[in-house]
Amino acid sequence: MANKKRVDEATGTQTVGHEWDGIEELDTPMPRWWVITFVLCVVWAFGYVIFYPAIPLANSFTKGTLGWSSHGDLEASLAAENSRRAPLFKAVAATPIEALPANPQMLQAAIEGGRAAFKVHCVQCHGSGAAGSKAYPNLNDDDWLWGGDLATIEYTLQHGIRNPDHDETRISQMPAFGEMLTPREIRQLVAYVRTLSGQAPATPTSAAGATLFANNCAACHGAEGKGNRDLGAPNLADSIWLYGGDTASLRQTITYARNGVMPRWNNRLDAVTIKMLAAYVHSLGGGEASPTSEPADGIESVASQSAAANDPSIPKAADVRS
Ligand code: HEC
Ligand code: HEC
Repeated sequence: MANKKRVDEATGTQTVGHEWDGIEELDTPMPRWWVITFVLCVVWAFGYVIFYPAIPLANSFTKGTLGWSSHGDLEASLAAENSRRAPLFKAVAATPIEALPANPQMLQAAIEGGRAAFKVHCVQCHGSGAAGSKAYPNLNDDDWLWGGDLATIEYTLQHGIRNPDHDETRISQMPAFGEMLTPREIRQLVAYVRTLSGQAPATPTSAAGATLFANNCAACHGAEGKGNRDLGAPNLADSIWLYGGDTASLRQTITYARNGVMPRWNNRLDAVTIKMLAAYVHSLGGGEASPTSEPADGIESVASQSAAANDPSIPKAADVRS
């Protein structure tokens, strides 16, 4: 391999002096645009290091003279977002939950706010579509343990269900009948409960279970097993089961009881978020009308709420979706 620089005749370009088997390497200069871009990048990089956070240090990093940080950026946009939503939160806070439906715009905004909060706080137990699973009720259907109107749902959320450290929590305690009844009696009860839901035909065993049911269960579940919302006692005569309607699940439920627990939210979420969550759950399909809507009050609250409906400072539903 020779090592001689010369000017290549064909191109007029200097060679670098390398040659392999007669093939020589030309020393073609970098294109000017490339060199200029390169120099600009170097200048930019120096500038960036001076103005912006750049170089990692042992426990921190150079902060840059502009004081910018992505964290600060995020905080600023969160603060802007919060102040944009503030009028909505104030309006929802000032409106009793039963009055939300009279103001479709505010109701819609509350539902969207609730939808966002549900994804953060509720999906772990109730599932992303609120469809529930074993032991966690489906919130889409119109089968309610404790009740499905706005105020009732709001109360359930505020105070939780069998929340051990809270006096106002929803409470009722189905006893573990395994401690009171014989396995045979429990078998009879299972047979009877399965007739209530039409899963099995009546038999002498289920007839014996009917008597046991009247004596032990009807107080909470009702004479016909249709449930009692004051006690959160489920309807046993439908095909919707919290813990399962097959023989094994029923035997388990009756022998040991279940007593599901939902945490209360009024110590973790603010009142407006809870109200919005209640509006969202209510909107899922099983929402019931408020029981206490006396016509006169209703008209009055519609009138007072429609003022808020026309208030341009209240963002539209789409604004609160996040
Ligand atoms: C730790 C699990 C858990 C979390 C988290 C949870 N729930 Fe529940 N929730 C339950 C259980 C369990 C029940 C049923 C309790 C019972 O047996 O009465 C329930 C019941 C309910 C009910 C009553 C349904 C009815 O039929 O009356 C509503 C409404 C509800 N949850 C809404 C929510 C909302 C909204 C959130 C989020 C803020 C939430 N839950 C978060 C476990 C949970
Ligand atoms: C003190 C009230 C009370 C009494 C008495 C009671 N239950 Fe219950 N029962 C409940 C409550 C409340 C629930 C649902 C909440 C939970 O346990 O999580 C329930 C749940 C059930 C379930 C589960 C339903 C489902 O959807 O999975 C079955 C089955 C049941 N009870 C059967 C009985 C039978 C049979 C008796 C009588 C031997 C009885 N219960 C007595 C309050 C009661």
